[in-house]
Amino acid sequence: MIRKCLFPAAGYGTRFLPATKVMPKEMLPILDRPLIQYGVEEAMEAGIKNMAIVTGRGKRALEDHFDVNYELEHQIRGTSKASLLASIDRLIDNCTFSYTRQTSMLGLGHAILTGEPLIGNEPFAVVLADDLCVGAPDGVLSQMVSIFNRYQCSVVAVEEVPLSEIHKYGVIAGTVIEDDLIQVTNMVEKPMASDAPSNLAIIGRYILTPDIFDILESTPAGAGGEIQLTDALRTQAQQGKVIAYKFKGQRFDCGSPSGFVAATNHFYHLSRR
Ligand code: UTP
Repeated sequence: MIRKCLFPAAGYGTRFLPATKVMPKEMLPILDRPLIQYGVEEAMEAGIKNMAIVTGRGKRALEDHFDVNYELEHQIRGTSKASLLASIDRLIDNCTFSYTRQTSMLGLGHAILTGEPLIGNEPFAVVLADDLCVGAPDGVLSQMVSIFNRYQCSVVAVEEVPLSEIHKYGVIAGTVIEDDLIQVTNMVEKPMASDAPSNLAIIGRYILTPDIFDILESTPAGAGGEIQLTDALRTQAQQGKVIAYKFKGQRFDCGSPSGFVAATNHFYHLSRR
């Protein structure tokens, strides 16, 4: 059973500077909701109630978003605007939020290790909120929880990307075990197109078994001088303990301006229907 979801949210978000100089990237809004809220909604839909967020300096807005704001609520109570807080109130009322800070931004693997005290010794989900996923018919994390329940091992969400884009991703190699499921045998972080073992890129949704923490502990810095989650997952994969899942739905890379605009258009058109 997956009870906790970890949100690494300590990165600098340099691709959106200067917007992200003082505002966390995860607070950038797609229409009326910040990116992190979409991620928490997806986790809640997957039956997860404990949200564990790894923040960093200058990310206080994240904590305040998932808390009451007495003054604002007092001001709009009894007016037609009160309902505008319904989506966030539902999360505050139904979930717990815990936080820890990453003090040195040494990469995604390091951020996940920083979250260990919030997770403990149990399997958990990971959402990178800048990948905004629209699952069909269920959310992507819900789909992945079902797969975890069957296989009881780490699960990574993958999508086919053009080879010209592959150098931006962790890429898997493996053997197909059934429709949309691949037993992962190897993975490479940000390969050149000529070295990529496939066109299947890992996106920002994971279910991880807790042995990942010990593996991360002994994983040296890899590509870019950062502790790479992909390197730790490769160790699990070589033990036959990682499944890649070609999820059903659509992903927007909101960490890049083009993905951010595409997501905004998608949700704008949905809201006009
Ligand atoms: P990114 O690679 O998107 O980095 O991190 P970034 O800093 O957020 O953005 P750019 O590339 O500078 O524009 C992927 C995820 O890992 C988290 C980020 O917050 C994001 O959710 N992360 C990354 C950390 O929490 N800590 C780190 O040290 C690095």
